[in-house]
Amino acid sequence: MPLMEITFRLNGEDMTIPVDDPTETLLDWLRARGLTGTKEGCNEGDCGACSVIVTDARGAKPLNACILFLPQLDGKAVRTVEGIAAPDGTLHPVQQAMIDHHGSQCGFCTPGFVTTMACAHLNGARDHADQIAGNLCRCTGYAPILRAAEACADMPVPDHMNDTLPHPAGNIPGERERAGPLAPASADAVAQAYLETPDATLIAGATDVGLWVTKQFRDLGPVIFLDRCDDLRGVTITADTIEVGAMTDMETLRHAVADHFPAFAELLRRYGSVQVRSAATIGGHIANGSPIGDSPPPLIALGAKLHLRRGDERRSMPLEDFFLDYGRQDRRPGEFVERITIPRQPDTLSVQKLSKRFDQDISAVCGALNLPVEDGILRGVRIAFGGMAGVPKRAAAVEAALEGRPFQEATFEAASKSFAEDFEPLSDMRASAEYRLMACEGMLLRAFQELQGVPGLLEVAP
Ligand SMILES: Cc1cc2nc3c(=O)[nH]c(=O)nc-3n(C[C@H](O)[C@H](O)[C@H](O)COP(=O)(O)OP(=O)(O)OC[C@H]3O[C@@H](n4cnc5c(N)ncnc54)[C@H](O)[C@@H]3O)c2cc1C
Ligand code: FES
Ligand code: FES
Repeated sequence: MPLMEITFRLNGEDMTIPVDDPTETLLDWLRARGLTGTKEGCNEGDCGACSVIVTDARGAKPLNACILFLPQLDGKAVRTVEGIAAPDGTLHPVQQAMIDHHGSQCGFCTPGFVTTMACAHLNGARDHADQIAGNLCRCTGYAPILRAAEACADMPVPDHMNDTLPHPAGNIPGERERAGPLAPASADAVAQAYLETPDATLIAGATDVGLWVTKQFRDLGPVIFLDRCDDLRGVTITADTIEVGAMTDMETLRHAVADHFPAFAELLRRYGSVQVRSAATIGGHIANGSPIGDSPPPLIALGAKLHLRRGDERRSMPLEDFFLDYGRQDRRPGEFVERITIPRQPDTLSVQKLSKRFDQDISAVCGALNLPVEDGILRGVRIAFGGMAGVPKRAAAVEAALEGRPFQEATFEAASKSFAEDFEPLSDMRASAEYRLMACEGMLLRAFQELQGVPGLLEVAP
């Protein structure tokens, strides 16, 4: 008996397959099946050579097959580069445009580009540079590829690209149950399964866990996939809060916060690539406790609350209290992230990410500065940084040096000297300790300028 079975639609054809190893990646499965158009480049989500289109009830998105486990595909439709041309062999508009505009030279990256671009074409996306930021090409210099994307953007979507799902919406209950505790279908079922197997590894978007398997060759032991838990997914906006379910992906979060906190949305535009953002979830991002994760600083600066659940017990805490120390979080065995809550407030948030590359790079320093002003006086200042300590951390001394003082350059100049009291950063391959401290000072002064309307991150970004 296989551990589980999954049903999905591959290039228009339904299939039910046994899964013996729940951490087998889609990339390995495809290539072993002879579908070798999907390439293995980095095997860690960075290059996009393995891009495929995955459609679920929320729509189509490009994902990296190298860090996508087979159980994450149950009930979905997958389209690989072999399924981009029409069944009669007519090239897809993206394929023809790539030929016409010389978008391929050595060609290794090309299937990944074509797949990502076909997904963007399907979704009507026109931000071509953002859409292909997760696809690396060493030969063409990108301009021909961008020209190809632009040239075919208005052409009609070929019928075969509109994938439907193998099960009717809502799925058949019996079918959903068959995977048992490996892939529970609700938060209640996760709570129960995790209580019973607290040493299991939860798998959300697998943008971290995938690498434990493909790079560290770890045997994960028992696993619990959260993918089927629709009740852990989505953003709800109430009069006072923005509620974000743990399984909400970063791309959905980016769009949800755009009208409320544009600087946060702009930061998320630079979070990985569209493939990574479409997989990575806010719950996995917080739970991994990374000191250089991009979303904790803005969430902490906005006063977000974290909601944890263990069995039927629930508790909440300010997000910053969750991060105890490097690699240590306030999470008990069997406890998981259920959601976060961001209080609604007037937008006074500046967020700045410093990385060596603009797109798809991990931050050396990420600063989030929430600087409300009442009658010319700073009131309710909250500042948090990533990359400055073993955890995402508030700059308490800088906050104190600003709070209750006039919103003037002199106040910010003076307060910027307090970063040295708040942080003793490390020197590593991304930045030296001195540079990190100087960068914080610069970010504070830049936030002051931005809030005065001087063009900042949002205006100058390409
Ligand atoms: C190519 C690439 C680029 C990246 N770029 C960036 C970037 O620019 N900025 C950045 O900050 N990060 C970046 N990341 C890191 C990554 O996207 C995040 O850490 C990610 O958000 C993890 O979320 P996930 O859903 O994929 O988690 P998973 O990999 O599924 O899980 C991560 C951890 O969280 C646990 N977990 C998952 N869900 C829950 C839950 N609900 N409750 C409790 N525990 C849970 C898992 O057991 C595991 O320990 C990048 C990653 C890759 C591969
Ligand atoms: S092989 Fe590089 S992203 Fe998958
Ligand atoms: S065409 Fe050679 S890497 Fe892109």
